[in-house]
Amino acid sequence: MKQPARYTLTAALPYANGPLHIGHIAGAYLPADIHARCLRLQGKEVLFVCGSDEHGAAITIRAIKEGTTPQEIVDKYHAMMQKAFSDFGIDFDIYHRTSSQLHKETSQAFFLELEKNGVFTQKEEQQYFDPEANQFLADRYIMGTCPNCENPNAYGDQCEKCGSALSPKELKDPRSTLSGAKPILKPTTHWYLPMERSQQWMEEWINTGMLDSVQQHDASEWKPQVLGQCNSWLKEGLRPRAMTRDLDWGVPVPLPGADGKVLYVWLDAPIGYISATKQWALDQGSGAGEWEKWWKADDTRLIHFIGKDNIVFHCIIFPMLLKLHGGFILPQNVPANEFLNLEGQKISTSRNWAVWLHEYLERWPNRQDEMRYALATILPEFKDAEFTWKDFQDKNNNELVAILGNFVQRIFVLCNKYYDGKAPEPGAGPEQDVELWAELNVIPEKVAAENDRFRFREALASAMHAARIGNRYLTETEPWKLEKTDPERTRTVLYNGLRICGLLSVVLEPFLPHTTAKLRAMLGLKELVWDDALRADLIKPGMPLAKAEHLFKPITDEEIAAEVERLHATSEANMATANTEPKDPVPTPMEKALVAKANITFEDFTKLDLRAGTIIAAEKIPKADKLLKLSIEVGEPTPRTIVSGIAEHFEPEAIVGSQVLVLCNLDPRKMRGVESQGMVLMGEDAQGKLVFVQPRSPVPNGSEIR
Ligand code: MF3
Ligand code: ZN
Repeated sequence: MKQPARYTLTAALPYANGPLHIGHIAGAYLPADIHARCLRLQGKEVLFVCGSDEHGAAITIRAIKEGTTPQEIVDKYHAMMQKAFSDFGIDFDIYHRTSSQLHKETSQAFFLELEKNGVFTQKEEQQYFDPEANQFLADRYIMGTCPNCENPNAYGDQCEKCGSALSPKELKDPRSTLSGAKPILKPTTHWYLPMERSQQWMEEWINTGMLDSVQQHDASEWKPQVLGQCNSWLKEGLRPRAMTRDLDWGVPVPLPGADGKVLYVWLDAPIGYISATKQWALDQGSGAGEWEKWWKADDTRLIHFIGKDNIVFHCIIFPMLLKLHGGFILPQNVPANEFLNLEGQKISTSRNWAVWLHEYLERWPNRQDEMRYALATILPEFKDAEFTWKDFQDKNNNELVAILGNFVQRIFVLCNKYYDGKAPEPGAGPEQDVELWAELNVIPEKVAAENDRFRFREALASAMHAARIGNRYLTETEPWKLEKTDPERTRTVLYNGLRICGLLSVVLEPFLPHTTAKLRAMLGLKELVWDDALRADLIKPGMPLAKAEHLFKPITDEEIAAEVERLHATSEANMATANTEPKDPVPTPMEKALVAKANITFEDFTKLDLRAGTIIAAEKIPKADKLLKLSIEVGEPTPRTIVSGIAEHFEPEAIVGSQVLVLCNLDPRKMRGVESQGMVLMGEDAQGKLVFVQPRSPVPNGSEIR
């Protein structure tokens, strides 16, 4: 294997169908950003590309859900994600999009080349078609009963209850989620990738790194769980997979007789990395072929950063396509991360059990590095990990404030006090400073080595170790006492302290770029490179220093309690409006309506105390975006208090006086400190907006509904 001359780093293109949460960040983007920054600091040539994945059913389903067009969805979320990444300091060289013209041309040319190479087989097959919506149905648009576990709400590609991978035709009692109609089978032709033909070389390449008798990568560097997932796929035996779809949203198949067909999103999306590279080269004003070395030169190291749900696409399908196309290098590693859980539960978009990046950035302005730090210390590198707000607080208070901030603060306070804010001239250093530097001198190379192995948690711990060493050195030397008896030695100690600050400003840069910029400004230093970390003359005696400044502030219990409460309140609000617990991805209103529930007896039904009532007062609950506190007259001496998650759909004033249906014997439940004594029945219109279910003409309050 050659020494890499340059690095092409990719981070999974997120679907532009919703905002980013901390699970995305810990899965792919933060590790990729750390890696890119660390290599750049070492003077390596790095290209770090990403962009929005704007095709596929993920987008069209979202558009139906929001009652708008796919184009509006991708425009909205592309802008939102791009801003959040940039505000958080994820430093892509380019953040592109797969709806661009350049991407369309690039992926179509790629497809045509595969076709020219005779890679595809064409097959006519019977496929489900919705006669009411008049279109073929993507797997995700079909629901039915799982043949393995009888779950009545399995999707055409997967049963989320038992986890089995399905194909639509395996479902019992299939139904279209677009119209509810029973789909019919109609013939359609698709281009298939006969993956079984590549089984052998694929197995060898993944497990040994050998391809065409050349050593491409060292398989022992791949994460065991990544190899494990690949091998369990390979063991099943690779099978043909359709590379086209009958859809009207996507990159059109550029062949005659393929009207109404688009490229499969998992063909088009990873090519997005290549089109992003091309766009970057154009933006640089470089020549037309400048992008190629990043994808074709055999001394380029290509690394894909992804979450574990993308492993087979990046380790098997995309490399296969690259090889069959010809002329491309294959990834040298795919250091996929596992999942991040949140406060004891899986992160869930539909239940709003998430910490949204854009909201975090709003609520914690200029505290990017605090979150970067907390996440970097728990990255799910080998197994799932868990984020809690308490841990976020602990990491901030006990490590950033108490170790890093405290060290820097003490050095600056003392230099300001003793030397009028200038770096002191060191005296001669006695023996213990040799030991000090022996310990510090190995840190940059350790951090770099751990970074090379994608062990970012360890890399960060090694970098932080320099601050721990610094604190220990101050505790041992006590310069605040020493100054009275030995000013010369004190100068040496504080000079060493400044050098440690300089070192920290380099080795922590990949993790805490905002903080290290501040620290360098305090030292009066400009941009540094990796080798500056240990330069003996980095700190020049006499150079002016800034005033002592706290790099971090402690986070209070109240701030943390508010976050935890917010998480529960916003997710409970969702619960309060949903009759069924929705699953990821969010079902459309139509899908929800189609959810078949088991029969109940009439007696079960009579257990419900359903009554008509009238809303006599309504007010917002402070700090809960979704909740309204309602007073409802239900034919009792005093009105009931009911907390309802409808604040985003109604102005409180507008609903006073409305008659509604109320479930009165639901167990009381506290939300945001208010006890809710029942539930208001709601429906959802085609746009996903909530509407009251009302008697057709008014009835007395308290009337029984049966
Ligand atoms: N959009 C996909 C997801 O969010 C990831 C696509 S990665 C790429 O799971 F390879 F397509 F770029
Ligand atoms: Zn199942």
